[in-house]
Amino acid sequence: MKVIVCENYEEESKKAFEVMKDVIQKNPHAILGLATGSSPEGLYKEMVKDYEENGTSYADITSYNLDEYVGIDRNHPESYYSFMHKHLFDHVNIKPENTHLPEGSTQADADAYEAELKKVTIDLQLLGIGRNGHIGFNEPGTSFDAPTHIVDLTQSTLEANSRFFDNDVNKVPHQAMSMGLGSIMRSKKILLVANGANKADAVKAMVEGPVTEKVPASILQKHPDVVVVLDKAAASKLS
Ligand code: F6R
Repeated sequence: MKVIVCENYEEESKKAFEVMKDVIQKNPHAILGLATGSSPEGLYKEMVKDYEENGTSYADITSYNLDEYVGIDRNHPESYYSFMHKHLFDHVNIKPENTHLPEGSTQADADAYEAELKKVTIDLQLLGIGRNGHIGFNEPGTSFDAPTHIVDLTQSTLEANSRFFDNDVNKVPHQAMSMGLGSIMRSKKILLVANGANKADAVKAMVEGPVTEKVPASILQKHPDVVVVLDKAAASKLS
């Protein structure tokens, strides 16, 4: 696991962008695994800026998103479908038919997404990390081998995400469909971004703690090519 500590969020986003751009430049047909949430917003801004200023093409890029809420309309402003359009897809020349997000509410829908994922190899999987160590929506206790599955969100995640739903935990969808840890670990390369002091404990457990299903992100210690890009606050508990 390569850990890069940056002065602040802006520098962190630029560093993460360098990793992303390297993959896209080396392979214009790259398959990207994408994440939502506030952590990658700065990276997406850098990608859009680079597209506008330098014309880096996404015409042959394919994407698969990590997760999506269950029971939320795709056009709801807080769906991950809307998030991806708002922050990236609407601003670069990626073809809509090449973008994929989990959709549906049943395990059969999740199995269909996993079957699609099994046909490809993700070149770069982007991740954030939850305060409880989740990646995707793989909450503590999820099996390391899990494929794409339907998840009941934990209270900690519902509370963390209520900021997007009028600070009302009852408005947050209680379930999501998420790539599993097994799906994530098949990616060739993983880029995890985290910022802020409220991620410091999870980051320490991921990087320095034991590999345990209690901390889903700790499985990344077993992946051969992981780059973790942090701001100082998120790195503050690392020894
Ligand atoms: C989002 C995702 C989640 C987030 C995590 C951190 O697609 O899979 O694991 O990365 O909850 O969220 P933020 O970045 O909002 O702190």
